[in-house]
Amino acid sequence: MTTLGLIGAGHIGGTLARLATAAGIEVVVANSRGPDTLQELVAELGEHARAAYAAEAARDADLVVVSIPLRSITNLPKAELAGKTVVDTGNYYPQRDGDIDELDNGSAITSEMLARQLRGAHVVRAFNNIFWGHLGVLARPHGDGERSALPIAGDDATAKQQVTELLDALGYDAVDAGPLGEGWRFERDTPAYTEPYHSGAGLLAAATARAADAETIRARLAEAVPPAQRAAR
Ligand SMILES: NC(=O)c1ccc[n+]([C@@H]2O[C@H](COP(=O)([O-])OP(=O)(O)OC[C@H]3O[C@@H](n4cnc5c(N)ncnc54)[C@H](OP(=O)(O)O)[C@@H]3O)[C@@H](O)[C@H]2O)c1
Repeated sequence: MTTLGLIGAGHIGGTLARLATAAGIEVVVANSRGPDTLQELVAELGEHARAAYAAEAARDADLVVVSIPLRSITNLPKAELAGKTVVDTGNYYPQRDGDIDELDNGSAITSEMLARQLRGAHVVRAFNNIFWGHLGVLARPHGDGERSALPIAGDDATAKQQVTELLDALGYDAVDAGPLGEGWRFERDTPAYTEPYHSGAGLLAAATARAADAETIRARLAEAVPPAQRAAR
């Protein structure tokens, strides 16, 4: 991979930008307010980073991570993202995002909503199941005994391979959870969601991080209860 586009430069987007530049990957970061507001981040990231408008980040990148609030997915550069691999980090919290029937009743996941918006893009769900503070500190080089794994889901084998290589470069193994529709297996309220990556004490603080290997994540994915059954409980 040569250039990673990051649409959304907040908790998750910013953390991925730091991991990517540390790995020597060129990044183009974008937010909703424009490149001028990202100068501090870009200065911190160093020579491998620049800021741009979202359309430019999409156009110039080989692979794009979309890490924005759910309500903003209608406002993405569709033409520039067509044909690209797009990683969706999104989650659904009704209290934050408002009630959305198809997500409430389990007939769709956020990544499928994004894929509908971005016809022609190859959407892969990843990075949604780990707290940003843990994502930042659990990265380890290939072969390290303390390396963690992250699940991915997507319909396009080439796109998933690209995302697997991105994860590897950033410091994570990938566990293939299947097609995009299987992405519910690591959404909110499932065993693979955030919990494998921390000790429980203090919950979501970077200091509580603990490694979760591929075997652990595979077992958690297999334990997941389908959303419709969860909703009926
Ligand atoms: N926080 C976590 O630990 C975590 C973990 C896993 C997954 N997630 C999920 O990942 C998503 C992002 O979470 P976050 O915590 O990173 O959010 P965040 O810190 O609030 O950052 C959101 C980013 O999206 C940008 N943005 C909003 N609308 C945009 C648009 N139309 N075009 C380009 N950029 C846009 C914002 O830019 P401005 O500031 O300029 O508006 C900001 O940089 C959410 O769905 C969240 O549930 C979060």
